[in-house]
Amino acid sequence: MTNSSPVALITGAAKRIGAAMVRQLHGEGYRVIIHYEHSKNDALALAETLNIQRTNSAACIQANLCDPQEARNLGERALCLWGRLDVLVNNASSFYPTPVGDISEDDWTSLVGSNVKGPLFLSQALTPALTQSQGCIINMVDMHIDRPLLKHSVYLLAKSGLASLTQSLAVELAPHVRVNGIAPGAILWPERSMDNQEKDKLVSSIPLGKLGNPNDIATTLSFLISAPYITGQIIYVDGGRSLYTGASA
Ligand SMILES: NC(=O)c1ccc[n+]([C@@H]2O[C@H](COP(=O)([O-])OP(=O)(O)OC[C@H]3O[C@@H](n4cnc5c(N)ncnc54)[C@H](OP(=O)(O)O)[C@@H]3O)[C@@H](O)[C@H]2O)c1
Repeated sequence: MTNSSPVALITGAAKRIGAAMVRQLHGEGYRVIIHYEHSKNDALALAETLNIQRTNSAACIQANLCDPQEARNLGERALCLWGRLDVLVNNASSFYPTPVGDISEDDWTSLVGSNVKGPLFLSQALTPALTQSQGCIINMVDMHIDRPLLKHSVYLLAKSGLASLTQSLAVELAPHVRVNGIAPGAILWPERSMDNQEKDKLVSSIPLGKLGNPNDIATTLSFLISAPYITGQIIYVDGGRSLYTGASA
């Protein structure tokens, strides 16, 4: 591992899609910073595995991204590790239904905080380093931003804000930093339980006929990082689900 190896910070990366993106970039020679909030053991185990493969190639930092000061501190601590940053992936997210009538300010704090407020303050804190490295930001959005998911208005307004932030930053940070987004469809079932009927109904609405895989997201991340003339774009990785009309042939 040389000091010129690029460095990536992936938020919410202890497990699931975030961990797949960590493994992908590490496999490409990146030094990786695994951010987590509660999943300390998963984060440490992932870092340990990667450090066995290559010494001093993975580190972990804890932060609650709902707090802008913690987001700024995360940025500072990330830069202290290896003195540079090439890729920021805003992946951390809280996700749960908020039916109208039951929406609380705590829901707003959690869903808007993790999905758009944290990414904004973290991106801002890391803009000088990303400018220096001519790096890029990738925001994890959601295919439902323009196809509402019932009873998820607060989550979706936050993800829509993140999509808008992607375009604003792409213009404002150009030409030094590229900013793109990935809008997953159904990749992994949410951690809350879903019954089989609900799952079958969802799969039947995916033209490609199956759930995606975290590696589908990880390879899209690699593509966006390596595409020097793409900025301000949001790539849908959803098996065609955002085009589904419900009509059968
Ligand atoms: N899974 C899908 O099929 C799907 C579909 C559409 C969009 N997406 C988007 O793709 C991304 C990855 O999906 P996923 O399902 O792998 O995500 P996830 O498991 O729901 O969440 C990723 C991590 O976000 C972290 N997080 C939540 N609130 C936080 C906060 N306030 N501060 C800091 N970290 C916080 C958690 O870290 P700790 O565990 O360490 O607390 C969690 O492990 C997300 O942005 C998600 O919205 C996923």
